[in-house]
Amino acid sequence: MNSFSLLRQPRVFFRPGTIKSLPSLIHEFGRNVLLVTGTATLQRSESFASFHDRMQAESLCCHHYAIKGEPSPELVDRAVEEYGCAGIQVVVAVGGGSALDAGKAISAMLVKKEPVGHFIEGQPEYREHDGSKVPFIAVPTTSGTGSEATNNAVISKVGNSGYKRSLRHHAFVPEVAVIDPILMLSLPFGLTAASGMDALTQLLEALVSPYGSPYTDAVALSGIELFSQTFIRACHNGAADIDARSGMAYAALMSGIALANAGLGIVHGFASSAGGYVAVPHGQLCATLLYPATRENISQLRGNVDRSAYFLAKYAKAGRLLSEDSSLNDDEGCCALLEKLESWQRELQFPRLGDFGIVEKDVDFIVSKTRSKSNPVELSVESMKKILKERL
Ligand SMILES: [Fe+2]
Repeated sequence: MNSFSLLRQPRVFFRPGTIKSLPSLIHEFGRNVLLVTGTATLQRSESFASFHDRMQAESLCCHHYAIKGEPSPELVDRAVEEYGCAGIQVVVAVGGGSALDAGKAISAMLVKKEPVGHFIEGQPEYREHDGSKVPFIAVPTTSGTGSEATNNAVISKVGNSGYKRSLRHHAFVPEVAVIDPILMLSLPFGLTAASGMDALTQLLEALVSPYGSPYTDAVALSGIELFSQTFIRACHNGAADIDARSGMAYAALMSGIALANAGLGIVHGFASSAGGYVAVPHGQLCATLLYPATRENISQLRGNVDRSAYFLAKYAKAGRLLSEDSSLNDDEGCCALLEKLESWQRELQFPRLGDFGIVEKDVDFIVSKTRSKSNPVELSVESMKKILKERL
């Protein structure tokens, strides 16, 4: 068995309607609150509007910071400049992965008096953050990134010298995660599909990570099982199917726990390199690359790599769960996994990289910036180019 260490988990409250308990949870930390949301959240959710009113009614002093898009260093620094001297006692983020990551990063930087860029992994001026922070409560309204359970916040700067890298410390795991599937009922089809595929990518990549453990395997497989039962229902009937939304919220939570403790593979390597080069929404990038990347991984593993049977057996477990056919042997399970991923790619019409402006001449540059991360097999430059070119 691999040696491993485990992060602490947030205190999780998982129930339809549990957002009603949020004001009393906030009171445990103080009454001066910074509420971070995505702009879309405010427009979509009636539950959120009534929650906001209740915050005021329960004598919480609520500062509101709305963000648009994925968090940049400037966005985090601006929030810290605005609220750094406001005596914020707790940061609460309500929204998708971007809002949660923004809230997590702001909670980590409010007590610091310097730019967040100094603490982002891979940057020239990088220094390790000491973990001091304001308590943070995560309230996801999408089922995707699992940020409600992870120790990192992804910060993006898009362009030729851009990046998409993490601010990370074990202390950054949220103190509390409030997971209310009712908040997800209004999520439209496209966001449901893309964020769901992000969760599946994280579950699969953590499952086949060389740094996994029996614990992360169990967590990932449990998430894949619920994903299998609820993903398509959430995509096509998400407004009315609270059970499907609950299953997807659970899958996303498991994906966060699994990825934080086992790491991620090549699709998230591309998410960092391609996502730092052009503005591709993270979930859509995962959705479009998961099938060709998994096919390439399985193909390479079948080509006689050390421990290949070990990783192929894990892919096969996922294939048996997603195809709901427990009778398949490992080879058939891998084939079933690929068939399922390919069918979703076709039927749900995931956008192509070209839809976001990535063209063939960009491929070399993106691959040169791509790290294989915790992929089960080291992919060659040619393999990585093949994956990207297939989805241009
Ligand atoms: Fe992800």
